[in-house]
Amino acid sequence: MATYSSNWIDELKNSVNIVQVIEQYLPLTKKGNRYSALCPFHTEKTPSFTVDEEHQYYKCFGCGKAGDVIEFVKEKEKLEFLDAVEFIANKFKIKMPEKQESAEITARKRDLENIYDANLIAARFYRDNLQKPAAKTALEYMYNRGFSDEVIAAFGVGCSLDYESLYNHLISKGIKEEVILKAALVNENKKGDFQAKRLVIPIIDAKDKVIGFSGRSLTSDMKPKYKNSRETLAFIKNQTLYNMNTIRHLRKEEDVKYLILVEGYMDVMALYEVGIKNVIASMGTSLTQNQCVAISKVVKQVYVCFDGDVAGQDATLRSLDLLSSEDVDVRVISIPDDMDPDDYVKNYGASSFEQLLIKAEPVTQFKIRKLKDSLDFSTIEGKPKFVKETIPILVKLDSITQSTYIDYVSQLSGVSKDIIINAISESKDNNLVKINKDIFIANRKKSVSDFDVDRGRLVIAAWLFAQFDLSIDEFISADMFKIEEQKIIAGRFLEEYRNNNRVIFKEIWPNEIEADEIRNELNKIYDKKDDWQNAYGIDTYKDAIRSLMLDYLQNLSDLLVRKIIETDNDEERNLYKEKLTKVLEYKTSRGL
Ligand code: GTP
Ligand code: MN
Repeated sequence: MATYSSNWIDELKNSVNIVQVIEQYLPLTKKGNRYSALCPFHTEKTPSFTVDEEHQYYKCFGCGKAGDVIEFVKEKEKLEFLDAVEFIANKFKIKMPEKQESAEITARKRDLENIYDANLIAARFYRDNLQKPAAKTALEYMYNRGFSDEVIAAFGVGCSLDYESLYNHLISKGIKEEVILKAALVNENKKGDFQAKRLVIPIIDAKDKVIGFSGRSLTSDMKPKYKNSRETLAFIKNQTLYNMNTIRHLRKEEDVKYLILVEGYMDVMALYEVGIKNVIASMGTSLTQNQCVAISKVVKQVYVCFDGDVAGQDATLRSLDLLSSEDVDVRVISIPDDMDPDDYVKNYGASSFEQLLIKAEPVTQFKIRKLKDSLDFSTIEGKPKFVKETIPILVKLDSITQSTYIDYVSQLSGVSKDIIINAISESKDNNLVKINKDIFIANRKKSVSDFDVDRGRLVIAAWLFAQFDLSIDEFISADMFKIEEQKIIAGRFLEEYRNNNRVIFKEIWPNEIEADEIRNELNKIYDKKDDWQNAYGIDTYKDAIRSLMLDYLQNLSDLLVRKIIETDNDEERNLYKEKLTKVLEYKTSRGL
């Protein structure tokens, strides 16, 4: 991530006039030494939004939104701080300062920019292909599926006609072979188009960059049906959600209260075709935590729309839980007769689809219903099996919600509420142990990613250089960090911090005595100093520490669970149980 000195940010703010920037978004009326307008951030009939040219800030007396030019662009363009800064600099042709960053990061960024350039040229090439006579089959395929020229254009749909032309075209546009390969647009040896002879859908990220492609086969004998680009520096599948670019633009126009999550790219386009635009799709896989976090930053409500054949599968249910655990209210849309959203809107239209939203079920209700549908209630064993399998679902609910669902399960099964309540309390202890054990096994397989290493640096740098309250509570530990060097540095920091309530960098690291590895790591941490002093805010810190805590607390509870299982000393076991409860309570209280 880029970093700019505070001097430069001031310079940027001095060289643009907030009035000029805001005027590009809404008409301003001059009133004395201020400008006023109807507030762009809330609905009002009389203007309470003012812009103060002298002090270069805006404030709305209605809704309280206020800030400088960067804050305004952040809000209006729905960008993060640094992206807003770059947006303004680009718009007003203000030269960016030379960035203070390591050669490695500079090289990576250059690679990334090059890949974006190559991808954009490829996307335009595919798009233009679709209008050529040779692309008749592909274009007709889209028309036959009911897509209009507008929607085809809005999503930049294109096609590849053969193996060779993409490579030749890119070369003729001055793209280096090395970059074409890094962008994974062609295969290594023959330089053949990776999407040859397919309909090509560009995958565009929230910042409007083309990061990859998905090619759909046009004939049933061409397998696979969809072929996604392989991962590159630009295309990281587990962080990508299809159509987030549309969502960002939509949010600039209106308050997007919820998103609809569907499975297929074509479903997104089909809903768009009938005017439903707040739709995203995963990359054909179940949701990852990264994707859930990205969603939760945009909306607090999601309607999930899975095809009939996958709803109820374990991976699907886990996706729902993962999303719910990011504080998103999740509802499940069930489409009748094994249709997907595309089929459904084509058969019944947009308003029928909107009716399905109204009927969408909360996750728990959906799970219980699915469970019921999967069992045979006409046998004697059907009902007790059903009740038993609802217990792990019921256990996780808060007590108020739980009591409602106990009624529901009791009604469906005819088993009395008392018996269900009993079963819940019996299972509580065991359940705690079991859930944690499962996750422990899953976690053991993970290795340390660059991402985690960088996050560790970010957090330690924040401790050392950021200007806000660190709120280092008792659960924060050096063991949160994933590499030995960071554990050592963090350990020393925490010790000092907890003993003296303050840390002086030089005192704890007299530089001559450190091992090379530690010094190296310290340098990398030090590289982040500017970010914290100028650009990053408390939210960045919270995000970073949260994700380190997530794994760490999980491992800690796994460890405690193992001890609970392994020990034969009752007293010890109780101690571990107490600790485990504390960890779990802390996790819940932090929403982890
Ligand atoms: P259409 O058949 O074109 O309507 O597509 P669909 O979106 O209805 O297809 P489906 O439900 O089969 O797939 C949903 C999503 O799963 C697609 O948008 C892809 O992201 C992914 N997917 C489907 N088939 C494949 C495949 O063969 N390979 C890969 N990598 N992904 C696939
Ligand atoms: Mn489909």
